[in-house]
Amino acid sequence: MIARYTFGTPVETGAVPTKPAALSTALPFFERTADGQKYTLSLGKDEIVYGLGEQIRGINKRGWSYTSFCADNPHHEEGTHSLYGAHNFIVFDREKPFGVFFDYPGEMTFDIGCSDPNACIITAKTPDMDVYILDGETPYAIVKSFRRLIGQSYIPPLFGFGFQQSRWGYKCKEDVEKVLEAYTAYDLPLDNVCLDIDYMDNYKDFTVSTDRFPDFKDYVAEKREENIHLIPIIDAGVKIEEGYDVYDEGKENGYFCKKEDGTDFVAGVWPGRTHFPDFLDPTVRKWFGEKYYRLTEAGIDGFWNDMNEPAMFYSDEGLERAKQQIQAVFSKEIDIKGFFALGGLMNSISNSPADYAAFYHEFDGIRARHDTIHNLFGYNMTKAAAEAFERKYPDRRLLLYSRASYIGAHRYGGIWTGDNMSWWSHLLLNIKMMPSLNMCGFLYSGADLGGFGADTSGDLLLRWLQFGIFTPLMRDHSALGTLDQEPYRFGNIDAFRRTLQLRYRLMGYIYSEFMKAALEDECLFRPLAFDYPEDAFAKRVEDQLMFGESLMLAPIYEQNAKGRYVYLPEDMLFIKFISFETAQSERNVEYLEDGTPFVKQPLPAGHTYIDVALDEVPLFIRPGKLLPLLRPANNTAELDFSSTELLAYPHGAKEVAYRYYTDDGVSKDYSSPSNFKTLIYTKG
Ligand code: GLC
Repeated sequence: MIARYTFGTPVETGAVPTKPAALSTALPFFERTADGQKYTLSLGKDEIVYGLGEQIRGINKRGWSYTSFCADNPHHEEGTHSLYGAHNFIVFDREKPFGVFFDYPGEMTFDIGCSDPNACIITAKTPDMDVYILDGETPYAIVKSFRRLIGQSYIPPLFGFGFQQSRWGYKCKEDVEKVLEAYTAYDLPLDNVCLDIDYMDNYKDFTVSTDRFPDFKDYVAEKREENIHLIPIIDAGVKIEEGYDVYDEGKENGYFCKKEDGTDFVAGVWPGRTHFPDFLDPTVRKWFGEKYYRLTEAGIDGFWNDMNEPAMFYSDEGLERAKQQIQAVFSKEIDIKGFFALGGLMNSISNSPADYAAFYHEFDGIRARHDTIHNLFGYNMTKAAAEAFERKYPDRRLLLYSRASYIGAHRYGGIWTGDNMSWWSHLLLNIKMMPSLNMCGFLYSGADLGGFGADTSGDLLLRWLQFGIFTPLMRDHSALGTLDQEPYRFGNIDAFRRTLQLRYRLMGYIYSEFMKAALEDECLFRPLAFDYPEDAFAKRVEDQLMFGESLMLAPIYEQNAKGRYVYLPEDMLFIKFISFETAQSERNVEYLEDGTPFVKQPLPAGHTYIDVALDEVPLFIRPGKLLPLLRPANNTAELDFSSTELLAYPHGAKEVAYRYYTDDGVSKDYSSPSNFKTLIYTKG
């Protein structure tokens, strides 16, 4: 059952496409203050709280205070409160479990057993919101009904599941070519190369630098011939420059967000001074969305939308305030207090609350101050692009993912989880975040593999890719000035190649499971407790995940680890693909049809320790399930989805069946019966 309660005058966020009628009865479970800004509920001793999508910390969100306010925040650390997304859905796992979605686009805080270990205290800036209460037999049943409520998740084209190589620092065609040559020379599979801001002319959206990428259209076509897709970035801010038509048109038509005095708000982002298009206004969305056609008409079929929290390094006013404060400090002799104040000053002007309260949006006949609807900005930038694609290419899927998001954005594009660091702890964070993202509808998602900021190391990158082969968005991306991070930079090529090939080998399964999850409102990544709700120990496990219907994952996320402890809620078949070298010394080695060696071992339910060398990926097949494998190829276009080799764990059954999904990878006829077929493994 889903019940909706409306308080105050909520802004239409579009998170829920078809809203159930609002109830006038009292809101259950929570105590709500008279001003409608605070909701309190007691937590049971061992109660687990799931949800919140893109957030730090664990699968169980208990023990911290989280803020929903899309943030350009490269500090994905324990003390952080907000990341780039705002996903206000949580599930309480108690005797009668229930879920709640606060459809509120302003700032909200979820103190989940932090200030009071026995209470969940949720606060908002105003009372204006729709609150949805969902009940169900289990937390997973509640998640599924939430997913039905918010509508079908975005489905990317098949090439979006192929590996993506990215780096902030590929400045020109020659840089891209060097990377591609290395991929070919080392025989590593690849589908996509992302173009970061340097492809543009002076960071101007929808332009391409003719110096660095001459004959762009021909170049895009040449790469498509090689089955490589170039995926350009688009930033939220439009550079202020007379003669730049996007700026001129936006200015002339009043498409940019305005200050109280009616002048256009100015924010400093990569291009310098920029204006923010008012994406909440459908006319602006149409205008901005259609600008993407400049690139699609040049053959581009995928984009990443960035800096759309929106991120701002400074505003004109912020700079002025800082200047005055600096002058005030310098007008006296600098003491220790002044010294530290100066240090923090410039950082404090970025993404400042004062700036978020200084500009306005006009849509649906209302005028809203930005901070009151902040979390809808990036969402509507992505919606602008998706709506434009839908108009021009109604039968074709384009690749689209964003940095900022709100629930609802999951229908229009995927998300990547922003500027993490090359830290082992961020690999673990990536693992723990995936199921929460899926609960909130973000199926096509992933982290910057290898880490964005700081220097990676070969072992970290390899272990991270070994988890990344399961995330639908699989992208190696790194920041300017950090160590080069392509998989061929660290020696050990055989291990990197086998890891990437495993992604393509598993593609039949990954694609089938993704499509079933999208079409049937399932989670691709699930906490163990979702599949084994009666298993008290499974509820405690935070570093293993269920992946699709057949697999459990137990990634290695610690440096120098040669294996790990694993909890098996039931008997499972442990599988590892091993190197030819290892195959010579292992006993009971088996070989796939293409000669790839692997070992398998049925393991009983319970706790066990598994050995996993640096070049190995552990897989666990559930009893009565099977795993279809493909012959790896250099890209998704070359994969043959019809020749599957089946690994199964019949566990006593004579036959194991699997619902296998395939399609042409680009059209949108998802439910055609011919897309589904049953694969049968017969013991013998
Ligand atoms: C932001 C993005 C990052 C990108 C950089 C430069 O930090 O999150 O992915 O590389 O901007 O465009």
